[in-house]
Amino acid sequence: MQGKTVVITGATSGIGQVASARLAAMGARLVIVARDKARGEAALASLGTISPGTNHSIHYADLSRLADVKRVAAEIAAAEPRIDVLINNAGALFGSRQVTTDGMELTFATNHMSYFVLAHGLRDRLRASAPARVVNVASDAHKGKKLDFSDLQSANNYSGFYVYGRSKLCNILFTRELARRWAGSGVTANSLHPGFVSTRFGDQSGGMLSFLVRAAKTFAISPEKGAETIVYLASSGEVSNANGLYYYKCCPATPTKEAQDNDSARRLWQESEKLAGITY
Ligand SMILES: NC(=O)c1ccc[n+]([C@@H]2O[C@H](COP(=O)([O-])OP(=O)(O)OC[C@H]3O[C@@H](n4cnc5c(N)ncnc54)[C@H](OP(=O)(O)O)[C@@H]3O)[C@@H](O)[C@H]2O)c1
Repeated sequence: MQGKTVVITGATSGIGQVASARLAAMGARLVIVARDKARGEAALASLGTISPGTNHSIHYADLSRLADVKRVAAEIAAAEPRIDVLINNAGALFGSRQVTTDGMELTFATNHMSYFVLAHGLRDRLRASAPARVVNVASDAHKGKKLDFSDLQSANNYSGFYVYGRSKLCNILFTRELARRWAGSGVTANSLHPGFVSTRFGDQSGGMLSFLVRAAKTFAISPEKGAETIVYLASSGEVSNANGLYYYKCCPATPTKEAQDNDSARRLWQESEKLAGITY
């Protein structure tokens, strides 16, 4: 990873923080996107101790807000002549339905729309740096979930776990469609399930949901283990030609048939373009 620039979201905690530390130790220069100043500065300082001679950098954005994602993408594109890897990792689970300033349901906005809009904003830099990679952190929580195009914002019957799983289904479908559309550009896109990992994930979800996630974490793997497939997809020569695939434990895995539905992937793309007010 010597000489490579990696943009990563959600590097202030959990698997994103471990993955960024590993990639820095491998020689990469990290550009992290964070929402909280204190947590961001701590993460940046920690990267500095891993590779003191490398000029890691940080940009701030609340990734649940479209305007913030667009702004931060433009800032990064202006500051970085090349981007070798984009890791879309920031994500969250919410116990009750909340609506963003853009009128979108918060899980969908944070977990799916931020991936979609950030990749769009960095597209030209990624393409100019080819071979380059997009790595999207998804989850096996997509299993058993279906997209409802008449209710993408989950206005009906909100259930935190279900809506979270559906946002992770969006991650896999987005990756599939991105890989198809960018085929031949030299930029690949793959998604992954990190395993069930003991991080801060779920701590802020609220009420019963936080309690359940905390109890289940007794059986979870460490963030070090959970970060392995991110690091693998971002850095390994074994996957330089892999495109549009879903990985678990550093191996290709088969997502559900809903996650392999090309029509859904295309439709989600079109709906996301409309919601974001962009054309890829
Ligand atoms: N943990 C698991 O078992 C598991 C399983 C499958 C998939 N995943 C996926 O793995 C990814 C990372 O999760 P994790 O387990 O490492 O959780 P985590 O410890 O809670 O870390 C989440 C990261 O996302 C950032 N983030 C959340 N909302 C944001 C927003 N609106 N704007 C900017 N940054 C935001 C957080 O920033 P702050 O530090 O400011 O909070 C933090 O850096 C997520 O996409 C999650 O869906 C996790």
